Formats: sequence, C-alpha cells, structure tokens
Amino acid sequence: MQVIKLNLYKNTYKIIVGAGIIDRLGNWLKKLNIGRNAYIITNSLIKKIYGKLIEKSLKTSGFGFCFKIVADTEKSKSLRTVSLIIKDLVNYDCKRNIFIVALGGGVIGDLAGFVASIYKRGIPYIQIPTTLLAQVDSSIGGKTGIDLKEGKNLLGTFYQPRLVVSDIDLLKTLNKEQIKIGLAEVIKYGLIKDKKFFVYLEKNFEDILNLHLPVIDYIVRHCSKIKAEIVEKDEREEKGLRTILNFGHTIGHAIETAGEYKRYNHGQAVALGLLVESYLSYRLNYLKKTDLIRIETLIKRVGLPTRIERLSFSQIIKAHYKDKKFKGFRNRFALIQEIGKARIVEDIPLRLISEAIKKYLS
Ligand code: NAD
Ligand code: GLY
Repeated sequence: MQVIKLNLYKNTYKIIVGAGIIDRLGNWLKKLNIGRNAYIITNSLIKKIYGKLIEKSLKTSGFGFCFKIVADTEKSKSLRTVSLIIKDLVNYDCKRNIFIVALGGGVIGDLAGFVASIYKRGIPYIQIPTTLLAQVDSSIGGKTGIDLKEGKNLLGTFYQPRLVVSDIDLLKTLNKEQIKIGLAEVIKYGLIKDKKFFVYLEKNFEDILNLHLPVIDYIVRHCSKIKAEIVEKDEREEKGLRTILNFGHTIGHAIETAGEYKRYNHGQAVALGLLVESYLSYRLNYLKKTDLIRIETLIKRVGLPTRIERLSFSQIIKAHYKDKKFKGFRNRFALIQEIGKARIVEDIPLRLISEAIKKYLS
C-alpha cells in the first residue's frame, strides 16, 4: 500500500493506493472526522458488486449510510440528476452529520463531487474510484462537473475530496474495453510529462490490458503521483500548469459533445483527441514525425479508435469552440513539444486545426 499526499493550501488529503485495502475504509474515515453518516452515490451495477464490502467496513466502524443509485451513463452528469439527488439528500440530512461518498467511475466521481460542492455551499466528500480512468485521473484534483447539451463539463467547480481510496482489486471486474478507456488517460501522462513512462507503456500495455495486478498497481501509483504534483502547483488552473492535463481533451471533448455523449465514450474520444493534437504538434514543428508515428502505433495497438467515424467535420469544429480554455476568439491548446514534454499554444490557425481533424476523419 502507498499513501500519496496531495498538499494544498487549504486542504491536504491522502490518495491511498493498494490491493484489498477497502476493508480499512471505516478506520480511515473515523480518523478524518468528517461526519457519521455516509451518503453513497453510485450506480446499481457497482452497488451490486461492491456495495456489501463498503457496507461491512462502514458498519464495523459504526457509520450510518444510505445508497443513492443513479443511471449508469454519462447522461447522469446532468442538472436533472443533480436536482434529483439533492431532493433526496435533503431528506437524508435530517439531524445527521453527513458526508458524501463517490463510489464509481469518473461519471459518479464528477457528479458526486459537484453535488458535495454546492449542497449547503459545500459538505465533505471522499472518492472511491472503481475504474482505471477514475483511479489514475478523475478522482484526484477536485475538478467536479456536469455536462450540458452544448458542451462537456460546462457546469463545474473546483472542490477537493477529503480522501481518495484506490483499491486496485476493485478493477478486477472491469472488462477490456473499460481498461482501454483508462489507458487513454494513462498514455496522456507519458506524453505530457514522462517519456520513460511512455516507453514503459509501449513495452507493457498488454499486461495492463490483461489486468496484471503488479503492473496496474505501478501505473495507478505513478499516474496518481504525476497528477498530484501538477495539481499541487496549480490547483485552480490559473498558472497554465494544470492546463497540460488537457492534452487531447480540446478535440476529445468536442468529439464527445458532437456525438451527444453516445457515439464515443470519454476514453475513446480522448484517444482520438490525442491523435489530432499530436498531429497539430507535428504540423507546428514541435513533434518529430517519427514520434507522431510512435503515438499512432501505441494507440492502435492498445485497440483504441484511430478514425473518427460517423461524425461530421462541422459538428466537431462547432463543438470545439465551447472549450473552457478559449478566451473569446483566441483558441488555446495543450500540445506536446516532444514525447514527455507539454506546452501551451495559443492562436493556432483554423486551417491547421481543420487539417488535423480531417486527417483522422473517416
Ligand atoms: P464511467 O464512470 O461511465 O464508468 C465506465 C463503466 O464502467 C460504467 O458502465 C460503470 O458502471 C462501469 N464500472 C465502474 N466501475 C466498475 C467496476 N469496478 N467493475 C465493473 N464495471 C465498472 O466512465 P469512466 O471512464 O470511469 O469516467 C469517464 C468520466 O470521467 C467522463 O465523464 C469524464 O468527463 C470524466 N473525467 C473527469 C476527470 C476529472 O478530472 N474530474 C478526468 C477525466 C475524466
Ligand atoms: N483532468 C484534467 C484535470 O484534472 O485538470
């Protein structure tokens, strides 16, 4: 087991990574002293698989709890679901000292964190991520949010969890497609920050897809450390440092939005975004052609999509204007200077962005 500390001015918290650690949850919560009753937001599948395990640990430590089940889809990141949860939460929160538990993947984590941040101007919450994507990325750093039809994550807050518990044993029930989705964000870390890690992924991606636990344990710990380091330096994305985590996401989010959150899931859209934005990095003379080919090859070998299908160019271009990084008419991208080194670039000519999208459009 490894404890990674995320040190912030107002709220330092622990990211605990290990195998078979979830039964210690109750003990950790007692020490945190954030409340006596857990309002657990999850979906029916995750409750069915892991509900009893969580219940047992909470009961043993004397906590009260209830489960709030939301639909198992990106559509749960909506104002409608937020309003349904809050109505229910108000009833539960009667003479109780409550906190929220996000038990699930990135959808549940973003939604539950958002609810925790706005209910009574903020109540404590913790993250128990159950997908690879959520363990390496979304559970850490306090970005919460929901989608609008017009764009991804357009409503959101920065609101840090009080604890993240990443039990890699919980990943054993994921299927290969779900591991691939997480791998898109894992590859992103190699590209923006750590060339050696990218090389490691080139050599070991099959072990990751086959859920070889020592390798999974290593990548969850490694990515959590990278993310924690970046968030510590720029919690609210004000210094342009945290922005590098957005590599692949300007076009990735546009693809997700254009497909109405059904055509491509987040990881698939990010993989396509990584390709388009690596190509942009190449066309702007930062990235070498041979490195672009390496990136394309890894994404293809992992089995993530390499062509944008059944979406039109105009849908994607329209959606990309909603990116939160853009300032008025000025676009702003996180790109890569080389494998392992990110850079922020502004005012990229539209013709180049169009060329890059068209290169991967079927
Ligand atoms: P998800 O939450 O939809 O989970 C994917 C699927 O896996 C779901 O069907 C879920 O029920 C199932 N599942 C979850 N845990 C399981 C388990 N242990 N065993 C079996 N099945 C399980 O998707 P995701 O890929 O985890 O997250 C994507 C979301 O994360 C997107 O909304 C994206 O915007 C968000 N995100 C947020 C951040 C952030 O910093 N806040 C970063 C990256 C992504
Ligand atoms: N996933 C992007 C961020 O946390 O900043």
